[in-house]
Amino acid sequence: MDNKITNIKRRLHKPIVLIGLMGVGKTQLGRIVAKELGVKFVDSDDEIVKAAGMPISDIFEKFGEEYFRAGERRVIKRLMEDDSAVIATGGGAVTSPETADLLWSEALSVWLNADIDVLCQRTAGHTKRPLLNNNDPRAVLQKLSDERTPLYQKANIHIDTGNGSLSKMKDEILSRVESYLQEQE
Ligand code: S3P
Repeated sequence: MDNKITNIKRRLHKPIVLIGLMGVGKTQLGRIVAKELGVKFVDSDDEIVKAAGMPISDIFEKFGEEYFRAGERRVIKRLMEDDSAVIATGGGAVTSPETADLLWSEALSVWLNADIDVLCQRTAGHTKRPLLNNNDPRAVLQKLSDERTPLYQKANIHIDTGNGSLSKMKDEILSRVESYLQEQE
């Protein structure tokens, strides 16, 4: 096994949680980081959809965002019990103080960041995100970025995803996790 992977596995006793705005690549990167580490990958949005038995857009439409956030809190609380998983969270998970506290105390948190232009490109044409189904998704992303950046900044590790390939970003995440764990010893 790769030295970096061995080092991480020896020291990591918490789930790795990816946070950041919609479209930044939490799910795609989370999946390949988990595969490389040989651990389970879970997407908290998928778990909410499973529990509710309906897509996120329907949950927002029928019950509203607060109801969604309560489900997200319950799901993330349960996911924190698995100490060897990689978890991709929905971009707004940190806006619930209770969920955010869980993330800061129970997980190794990695904030993935990217320019608004990149996020606009990556989210364009998808309809599954209710907050962006409007006339000006760029303005919404900018507003969410302004509101949430101070929250995301509390993460243990900050990574700019820029325009690097998925494989390069995966290596960057693993290197930063390895260094972080070594510094904590
Ligand atoms: C949200 C992000 C979405 C999803 C929901 C709300 C947000 O997840 O949880 O549509 O508030 O930023 P992704 O970040 O995976 O798109």
